[in-house]
Amino acid sequence: MDAPTKKLPQPLLPRGLVGRFVGWVMPLGHSAIYKRVAPVLNLQPEDDVLDVGCGAGYFLKRYASHVNSIAALDYSEVMVEMATNKHRDRIAAGTAAIVHGEASQLPWEDNRFSAVTSMGSFIVFPKPLESLKEMCRVLRPGGRAVVSIEYNAEDGKDHSKEVKNYGMSALTEGEVRQMMEDAGFSEVSIKYDKGLGMPKMMLACGIKK
Ligand SMILES: C[S@@+](CC[C@H](N)C(=O)[O-])C[C@H]1O[C@@H](n2cnc3c(N)ncnc32)[C@H](O)[C@@H]1O
Repeated sequence: MDAPTKKLPQPLLPRGLVGRFVGWVMPLGHSAIYKRVAPVLNLQPEDDVLDVGCGAGYFLKRYASHVNSIAALDYSEVMVEMATNKHRDRIAAGTAAIVHGEASQLPWEDNRFSAVTSMGSFIVFPKPLESLKEMCRVLRPGGRAVVSIEYNAEDGKDHSKEVKNYGMSALTEGEVRQMMEDAGFSEVSIKYDKGLGMPKMMLACGIKK
């Protein structure tokens, strides 16, 4: 499994006891992201949905309790443990899988899901294009992806410190669109919305051909 190349701060890769606390408070801030992604992802009862970089699993708990099946992956062991606890009942019922892993190597077969999302995480994936390719691979034809990109080159902020210190991406709309297309998505659209403390959060949306 490829490790993130730089040492990330706790919110971007929670570890240990502090990470547990971070996982507990993160949904308070990220609820602004969940609220904006949920209507775009528009989950239906028949959906099989995957959340990449799921953190403690709050989004799926709050917005995907009605879908056919849920799956989630995170590189933080603490987050996987917290998400597993949160979805214990669904795991026992066989309609949920929470796994430890890296976004560019998803451990699911081709065409497994009808919807994929990733929130608050894409900016730190060390292999963003490969990660999008993997999201596309595990989607069925016609399946949809919605990826939130909080720090980006269109939001009028200087992200050079985060880029240098943490290897984070601060991509332009054109770069994101190109990556989505190169990953195999069609009908690519880039929407903007506010997130908490994020003047211009990007939502990259696409459909698997
Ligand atoms: C800011 S948190 C967002 C968590 C969750 N999506 C939310 O919005 O509450 C970023 C998450 O991405 C995970 N992460 C970081 N690098 C990753 C990678 N390369 N592959 C998978 N997950 C990763 C972190 O462990 C962390 O849980």
